[in-house]
Amino acid sequence: MEILDGKKAAQAIKDELKMEVAQLAVEGKKIPHLAAILVGNNGASETYVAAKVKACDEVGFKSTLVRFEADIPSVKLLEKVQELNNDPDVDGILVQLPLPKHIRESDVIDAIDPDKDVDGFHPVNIGKMLQGLPSFVPATPHGIMLLLEHFKVETKGKHAVVVGRSNIVGRPMSILLSSNSNPGNCTVTICHSHTKNLKELCLQADIIVAALGKPEFVTADMVKDGAVVVDVGITRVEDSSRKTGFKLKGDVHFESVAPKCSWITPVPGGVGPMTIAALMKNTFVSCKLKN
Ligand code: GUN
Repeated sequence: MEILDGKKAAQAIKDELKMEVAQLAVEGKKIPHLAAILVGNNGASETYVAAKVKACDEVGFKSTLVRFEADIPSVKLLEKVQELNNDPDVDGILVQLPLPKHIRESDVIDAIDPDKDVDGFHPVNIGKMLQGLPSFVPATPHGIMLLLEHFKVETKGKHAVVVGRSNIVGRPMSILLSSNSNPGNCTVTICHSHTKNLKELCLQADIIVAALGKPEFVTADMVKDGAVVVDVGITRVEDSSRKTGFKLKGDVHFESVAPKCSWITPVPGGVGPMTIAALMKNTFVSCKLKN
């Protein structure tokens, strides 16, 4: 069994970006600038956004963090998105999800300029991705593809089972893995809460992507020998022995599943760092396209 070390692969991507940003600076060109909007004070979202801002610092990007109280009227948030759309210095805009219930997420996503939508959630980018055209690809599935590429995991002709059908991970993941690309060219099965024979399908999988948000859902009896397992789950589970009061658990029961795998991602240190690296890459591309 080998570890798909997301920390290592993400560092390699960030090191490369750092050099490219330094080169932009030498040439007197514009430095990438990511603007992040955080609404409310959801603990996990706070952590993710802080990690994104920190990654910007690491690679030499500019970043702006805009914070709003949880009860901000939708129209105010949309005004801010518009302001960032119109700001020529801003290359990438992300609005951290989930948003408070009174704000319709699709309204906010639709308001972001597709050319600055480095999260790749705008329907224009989703549509282009579906057609195999250049587009911003959602950071988590993009990061997983970069991880498979980094470790040269063979995907062609393999049966990939994606567990979870979210707009952010499961669905775009199924499109990317089935694309005529490398990595890609998989036969993909997408499973969800109404899938009847989930265990049997997982047992047929050469590659499992677990993205359903249920801690330790994928157990050893669901995984065939030699499978590649990618764990997207990152749920906070209470743990009074820790200072934070919680620990992070993936969607895969790592201890029992890992010995059966050819490759497996750890949690933390697998998909998480790759999501951020992919976001940095998208922001860099956005900046370059404008230059
Ligand atoms: N919430 C969970 N994942 C993501 C992500 O990739 N981008 C944003 N904006 N919000 C998220």
